Amino acid sequence: MLKIGIIGAGRMGNAHAANIANIADAEVSAVYDINPEKTAAFVGKYPQVKIMSSPDELVNSADVDLIAITSPTYCHAEGLRAAMATGKSVFCEKPLCRTRAELDELAPMLRSYKNVFAVGFVRRYSAGYMTLKKLIAEDKIGKLICASVTCLFGGFCRQWGDWFTDYQKSGGVILDMLAHHCDLCNGLFGKPESVYAKAFRLNTDAALPRDYVSSTVTFKDNVICNMECSWLRGGPNQTSMTVYGEKGALTLTDSGISFYDIGGAETKIEIDEGILGPLQKSITGGMYATEMAKIVDCVLNGGTPYAGVEEAINAMEFGLAMMASAESGNISKL
Ligand SMILES: NC(=O)c1ccc[n+]([C@@H]2O[C@H](COP(=O)([O-])OP(=O)(O)OC[C@H]3O[C@@H](n4cnc5c(N)ncnc54)[C@H](O)[C@@H]3O)[C@@H](O)[C@H]2O)c1
Repeated sequence: MLKIGIIGAGRMGNAHAANIANIADAEVSAVYDINPEKTAAFVGKYPQVKIMSSPDELVNSADVDLIAITSPTYCHAEGLRAAMATGKSVFCEKPLCRTRAELDELAPMLRSYKNVFAVGFVRRYSAGYMTLKKLIAEDKIGKLICASVTCLFGGFCRQWGDWFTDYQKSGGVILDMLAHHCDLCNGLFGKPESVYAKAFRLNTDAALPRDYVSSTVTFKDNVICNMECSWLRGGPNQTSMTVYGEKGALTLTDSGISFYDIGGAETKIEIDEGILGPLQKSITGGMYATEMAKIVDCVLNGGTPYAGVEEAINAMEFGLAMMASAESGNISKL
């Protein structure tokens, strides 16, 4: 039985715990949260879980084999330092950390880490993305030309004072939300070469918190990608990624994949829901359930998570470059 200790019993700590409860050979064994009310609510749901009084007590507990860091982004570095000092398996929610200094400190530690490390880029575990990647590798659309990423959230309801609305703590919509698609672009096109961005960066002059970024990114072979992401107070909730090639285009949305031929005719493509292989048969739930089941499987039986050390670092480099461009008004070169 794999014993999992959770640091941060908020939204994601609870979401992962619910999925772990459905995995036969894993259980949540320990929890630490800075807020006693969050801890109490968590053990109210999972009474077998031991309450730890500090991150150090949790990571060093004999009752913890896999450490899950689901605290706010600006707290990831402190959780990672404690977790990696133990040499145990580690899962950290995305993004890896908040600042350039933290990334510079963590990257070498991660690159030499001997045990399983996974980062919460959950979209890597979506059958839709895995199918898209396979189709591109099979040359369905030929040589890649350009891409468009739209990640709009019109129902943002956070208030000032919430850590999500503090650019210094969350990194705003770039590091918190678009980071997922920065990682997916890294997976499809390799690392970016240049990034130019304009963003609100949670400007506190606004009456209510809101954020928006529009960015132009170039990859090798002159692949150009437009990336747009928002936390706004109206408008659609819309997530899509279109990749254009010389033989056609593919669009991935949360409802499926379409292929567009050179004339523009659309064909729906069936997503291979069994893409994870035999493990998938035992998993119920969406990509978050798949993510946790795969990570547990890697720890117990060997293997590599779909989002690990290099994915964590590369998405940070991408996000920080986009933020630097939005902050300075200059193009960031990578
Ligand atoms: N993968 C995804 O799709 C996804 C979705 C949402 C959030 N996230 C990421 O997950 C992380 C947590 O987000 P959330 O929505 O669960 O936030 P949240 O605010 O709901 O929960 C964070 C919890 O951590 C606790 N906490 C604060 N400081 C702490 C510390 N120093 N040590 C331990 N616990 C501490 C808080 O009391 C709270 O209970 C963030 O990094 C966020 O970017 C990922």
